[in-house]
Amino acid sequence: VLFEPPTTFKAGYPHEYIVGEVSEKWMKSQRVWIVRTDTSLYALLGICTHLGCTPNWLEAESKFKCPCHGSGYTMDGVNFEGPTPRPLERGKIGLADDGQIVIDTAVRFRHELGQWEDPDAFLKFAG
Ligand code: FES
Repeated sequence: VLFEPPTTFKAGYPHEYIVGEVSEKWMKSQRVWIVRTDTSLYALLGICTHLGCTPNWLEAESKFKCPCHGSGYTMDGVNFEGPTPRPLERGKIGLADDGQIVIDTAVRFRHELGQWEDPDAFLKFAG
């Protein structure tokens, strides 16, 4: 029996995610959005970096918006409006032996510290 800490979960296969879309599939259970761009896939934590509320993904406006004090973030997770001083955080992401995506929300990567460049902060695809 494999022990997996509760912060780690399998999120299906990369091909299940559509390029250009923000998936809310894991938002309720894991508080994570999965974003697939043309060259990468990453896990954004649904925790506002102002005071910790849960933002909403507004597809029509292509942004995350926090209902508490109005902080807004781009699809990348970068803050551009409201009181929050910094971007959303990303969770650790990798592939399991069976090819499924594995995410660990306890290991976090912060853009303002240059950590989004870390190989564990995203999956890379040929563009
Ligand atoms: Fe999100 Fe304040 S907690 S804007």
